Parts: sequence; structure tokens; C-alpha cells
Amino acid sequence: MRLTAAFFLTITFLASPAALADPNSQGEGLFQARCNMCHGTGMGGAPLMEKLSALSTDSIIEKMTTGTMAPMAAGLSDSDKKEIAEFIAKKS
Ligand code: HEC
Repeated sequence: MRLTAAFFLTITFLASPAALADPNSQGEGLFQARCNMCHGTGMGGAPLMEKLSALSTDSIIEKMTTGTMAPMAAGLSDSDKKEIAEFIAKKS
């Protein structure tokens, strides 16, 4: 039992790195964990934040849901995607 609880706690913690820092929005933490390795550096021709933030929240969500970023966003919930998109769009 105790092992199971520890396992789920670990998973929950890994899946939401920003949860402890800011309970209201995980957008920034999720972006750092899932997107920044490419979009923070331009790796592989990924557009930088400056360019991403010019997009609308809806089009960023669409990109993560049915677009080319869907594999990068695999496992994220709809509200995770919304928070990431809002974090990006707010940077403009
Ligand atoms: C493995 C590297 C990589 C990761 C990780 C990654 N991206 Fe991307 N992203 C790219 C590349 C390369 C492009 C440009 C080519 C394209 O549009 O498919 C791109 C394009 C985009 C675009 C479209 C930009 C435009 O001008 O149309 C959005 C929005 C986006 N990424 C969001 C995200 C989000 C949100 C995440 C995290 C969930 C993420 N990406 C993770 C590499 C990455």
C-alpha cells in the first residue's frame, strides 16, 4: 500500500512540475518541461517564444491537439494545453 501511494505521488509530481510553485497555472512549468528544449533554443528550426506568442491561444491549442505539436503534447489534458497556450500568448 505504502509503495503504491509513493508511486502515484511521484507520478503526480513529475506530471505537474509547476503544481507546487503556482497552483493556479501550470502553463509555465509545463512549457519549461515539454516545449522549452526546442522553443527556448530554436532547436531543429523551432520558432522562438517571440514568434509563438504572436499566435492566438486557439491556434496554439489546435497545434497541440491536431497539428504538428500533437506528439510533443501527448499525455497533456485539455486544461494543461489551455494553460500552456495562455502562458505563451501572454508573452506577446
Ligand atoms: C522536439 C522539438 C519540439 C518540441 C519539444 C516542441 N516543439 Fe513546437 N515546434 C517545433 C518545430 C521544429 C516547429 C516548426 C515546424 C512546425 O510548425 O511543425 C514547431 C512549431 C510549433 C508551433 C507553430 C508555430 C507557428 O508559427 O505556426 C506551435 C504553436 C508550437 N510548436 C507549440 C509547441 C508547444 C506548445 C510545445 C510543448 C507542448 C512544443 N511546441 C514542443 C519543435 C518542437
